[in-house]
Amino acid sequence: LAAATAASLAFAGAAHAADDCSDGEIVIKFSHVVAATGHPKGDAATMLAERVNSEMDGKACMQVFPNSQLFDDDKVMEALLLGDVQLAAPSLSKFEAYTLKFRLFDLPFLFQDLNAVERFTTGTDGKDLLGSMTDYGFLGLGYWSSGLKQFSANKPLIQPADANGLKFRVQTSDVAVAMIEALGANAQKLAFKEVYGALQTGVVDGQENSWSNIYTQKFFEVQDGITETNHQLLAYLLVTSDEWLNSLDDDVKTQFLTIVEEVTAKANAAVAEKEAANRQRILEAGSTIRELSAEDRKAWVDTMKPVWTKFESDIGADLIESAVASNT
Ligand code: LMR
Repeated sequence: LAAATAASLAFAGAAHAADDCSDGEIVIKFSHVVAATGHPKGDAATMLAERVNSEMDGKACMQVFPNSQLFDDDKVMEALLLGDVQLAAPSLSKFEAYTLKFRLFDLPFLFQDLNAVERFTTGTDGKDLLGSMTDYGFLGLGYWSSGLKQFSANKPLIQPADANGLKFRVQTSDVAVAMIEALGANAQKLAFKEVYGALQTGVVDGQENSWSNIYTQKFFEVQDGITETNHQLLAYLLVTSDEWLNSLDDDVKTQFLTIVEEVTAKANAAVAEKEAANRQRILEAGSTIRELSAEDRKAWVDTMKPVWTKFESDIGADLIESAVASNT
C-alpha cells in the first residue's frame, strides 16, 4: 500500500508539474534552447503559449520547455517525428540534414537589417521555403527573427586578421565553418548549451551570436569584448510535424495557425528593440563593445563574403538574388 501511495503521489506531482492540461485537450509541447524571458524566441514562445492557453482552452494546451531542458536542437527534430514534442524553433543554420536551401540565410552580410529579413521572409520566395522539408515530414509555420550576429573572442577583434588562428564555436552549419575558415580561423561545431563552458575553459577562443544570446547566456563574462560586425542573421524556423498538424480537426487547426501567424508578426516586430536592450545590458555589465569604422567593416565583408560562391549551387542563384533584392 505504501508503495502504491508513493507511486500515485509521484504521478500526481508529475502531472501537476507538467502544467494544467486537462483531459481531452490536445497537448502541444514546444521545446527550445534559449532563455525563457528577455529573449526574442523565449518571449515569442511564451506569447504563443499564453494565447493558445487562453483562446483554445478546453481544446488545446501548450507547454513550453526553454533552456535545452527537454531537447537539444540536434535531437528535437527527431522528437517532432516521434510525437514527443509538437513545436520547435531551431535556428535556420541547423537544418542541413534536411535541406541545403536554408544555407541562404547563413550567407555572411546577406541582409543589411531586420527589415530586409522581414521583407524576404514574408514574400513569395521566403514563404515557399517553409515547405522545403515536407519530404521529411516537417512543415515550417513561420520565421522568427532573432537579430544579426556579432563576434567575440578572448582578445580584441578589429581587423579580420585578428581572428587568425583562433578557434570559434559555430552552429552546425557548413556555411559558418567556411566563413570562419575564410578568416584564417578554426571552427568547432558545438551545441548551444555547451558554449559558455567551452569559452570559459578555453576549448574555444570565441563565438558569434546575437546580442540577446550573448547577454542571456552571459558569454560576455568570459570574453574580452564584443565586436559589432552584424555579419550574419540569426533567425528560427517555427517547425512542426506535418502529420501532427494534419491530425487536428479543421477548426482547431485554423484557430491554431491564425494564432501562430499573429504571434509571429508581433514577435518579429519586437525583435530590434529587444536586441538593442540586450546590447545595452552588456555595456552596463561592464563589457566592451567595439564598433567598426567603415573601412574596418569593409575588410570583414571582403574577407567573408567570397564564401557565397561555394554555396551558390546548393541554394540557387535566383534565390540569393531575391534575398539581396530585399535590402532595397
Ligand atoms: C545557437 O546555437 O547559437 C543558436 O541557434 C541558439 C538559439 O536558438 O538562438
